Amino acid sequence: MPPSPSNRPAVCVLHGPNLNLLGSREPGVYGTDTLDDVNRKIAEHAGRLGLEVRVMQSNHEGVLIDALHEARGWAQGIIINAGAYTHTSHALADALRAVRLPSVEVHLSNVHAREEFRRHSVIAPAVSGQIAGFGATSYLLALDAVLALIADSPKV
Ligand code: DQA
Repeated sequence: MPPSPSNRPAVCVLHGPNLNLLGSREPGVYGTDTLDDVNRKIAEHAGRLGLEVRVMQSNHEGVLIDALHEARGWAQGIIINAGAYTHTSHALADALRAVRLPSVEVHLSNVHAREEFRRHSVIAPAVSGQIAGFGATSYLLALDAVLALIADSPKV
């Protein structure tokens, strides 16, 4: 993907496995917003903050890793909800380390209040910080955070 022609900071937002089913998937845990609803909220908030966002969802670990590698060419920040790969994917963690962009791990649910396996994130050591438990608002808080991180990062 080519770099943004706008001079707004660009953020890559990645949704991982099963997040395409938001709205119908365990609504008691993840809410009733569909992925399109969440993406609309992300686009609106990014517009308010003066950020450009490009959003994608994949159920495949390698596709998410390829998207992270590509983001090196055009993005200044990363927001990632890796779904269950959060708890298992050392490959995604390595990709986040390799990309070396300010990055925020997001979860809709409060993973720390759920099953034991969800309390451990293997990607957490590879990101700048984590936001969990605020539903779709987690992504909006992550946009605020990534903007602050981009503003603070050294310009080359
Ligand atoms: C999730 C939490 C993960 O444990 C789970 O596998 C998901 C969604 C969240 O947004 O709360 O798919 O990342």
